[in-house]
Amino acid sequence: NDLRPIRSPRGIPLLGNTPQIPDTNPVEYFGELSKQFPEGIYGMDIAGIEQVFVYDPDLVAEVCDETRFFKQIDKTPLSHVRDYTGAGLFTAHQHEEEWAMAHRILLPAFSQRAMKTYFGQMLEIAQNLVGKWESREGQPVNITDDYTRLTLDTIALSGFGYRFKSFDKEELHPFLNALLEALIESMRRSQELPMMTKLRKADDRKYRQNIQLMRDLVESVIKERREGKGTGEEDLLGLMLQATDPESGKLLADDNVRDQVVTFLIAGHETTSGLLSFATYSLMRNPHVLAQAYAEVDRLLPGDTVPDYDTIMQLDVIPRILEETLRLWAPIPLIAKAPIDDTVIGDRYELKKGTRANILMGALHSHPKAWDRPEEFDIDRWLPENRAQQHPHAYKPFGNGVRACIGRQFALTEARLALALVLQKFRFSDTTDYKMDVREALTRKPGDFQLVVRKRQDHQ
Ligand code: HEM
Repeated sequence: NDLRPIRSPRGIPLLGNTPQIPDTNPVEYFGELSKQFPEGIYGMDIAGIEQVFVYDPDLVAEVCDETRFFKQIDKTPLSHVRDYTGAGLFTAHQHEEEWAMAHRILLPAFSQRAMKTYFGQMLEIAQNLVGKWESREGQPVNITDDYTRLTLDTIALSGFGYRFKSFDKEELHPFLNALLEALIESMRRSQELPMMTKLRKADDRKYRQNIQLMRDLVESVIKERREGKGTGEEDLLGLMLQATDPESGKLLADDNVRDQVVTFLIAGHETTSGLLSFATYSLMRNPHVLAQAYAEVDRLLPGDTVPDYDTIMQLDVIPRILEETLRLWAPIPLIAKAPIDDTVIGDRYELKKGTRANILMGALHSHPKAWDRPEEFDIDRWLPENRAQQHPHAYKPFGNGVRACIGRQFALTEARLALALVLQKFRFSDTTDYKMDVREALTRKPGDFQLVVRKRQDHQ
């Protein structure tokens, strides 16, 4: 009755909006475009496919209604990520049996209670990070790379009993380079016509090599466990190899176990290292918040007190720093949903069944309808009394519904511990006056972010 067209940036005949999308940081560009469409939605024709971008919190609320929308894999970069993660949890179609089975088998391993069992391993790896930085006293360190070492080693050790030993080496593990290149290639494939992909033969060869490298590593992790080496029968890998699905009584197939391990190695580290990097950046920009964080750490972890699980759970300032960082710098800047049937959102915008509807995190997390002074890094938004006033659908850093992040507690426990330990030990100086240089490869991280680290003297 009162339908309105969804506006779009001007495209060109046949090619639509495809040529205007940059190869690097496309989601940042989508965020920029959102400023031209204050109605909170716009459309684009990319590689011959109409999609919409949504960021008004009330429209997002509708897109998050799981009776009407599902997680879209087809026609998104995730359909290409499936080349290496198959029907792993992150990239499985909602209707695939593998998703429901693995979700049921693995859910208990991600409860808040389960975090207690990973804590010792999280601490061990966080102490490796501290050890490295202590040996670099007064020198610049690559913050993002070291947080990547931390998060990769942590998920591999607590999930699979496998040691990457990333802090022993100057170079990042070859797995990471293979992953980065593969992710960029997947993103690129989703933005071009399949014909173009076919023409890029050398890139395709490289892509296959990268996938093989990741799979070989994962096969060796699984083999080590099957041969009885490594620890933890109760960890993720133990569950995947031995636990039967409570509903079907079946075990996960071997291929699926491999795909899940690749999935967890990726999903379990990329985002958390981005979160820690953006949090550290935000603290450098907001000295009054940094001072609050130091005060908290000095109160709960005086001197060289080794943090235990209960102390980490008592933190209040650090968790709010992480929440606010996830608002302004959500490591996953876009998630894709699609309507189950033809539908109308906001009483005026028609979406055909299967239309890709992207939730743009940056624009949603700073939407004026939901956020005062959206650009300001203000951790008091996350005090209980203020949190209660928030729009219920204006904050989605961990996604939505049944397809929301299974690793949320894991990530937050790991990040709280790492940040607390790092702040207990170090102060940072930004001697090069770092300018934020976001790098997107499905997730986003600060590129080449270096700070000088020094041991703290004042808390002894
Ligand atoms: C799904 C964010 C850490 C494992 C998701 C989704 C988001 C997200 C937005 C939904 C994606 C979509 O709808 O397409 C984050 C952030 C993290 C984080 C911001 C850190 C700050 C982790 C960790 C793990 C993990 C540590 C594993 C230990 C997964 C998995 C899924 C997922 C397996 C797919 C769940 C499913 O569809 O069943 N995450 N994640 N994530 N995440 Fe995370």
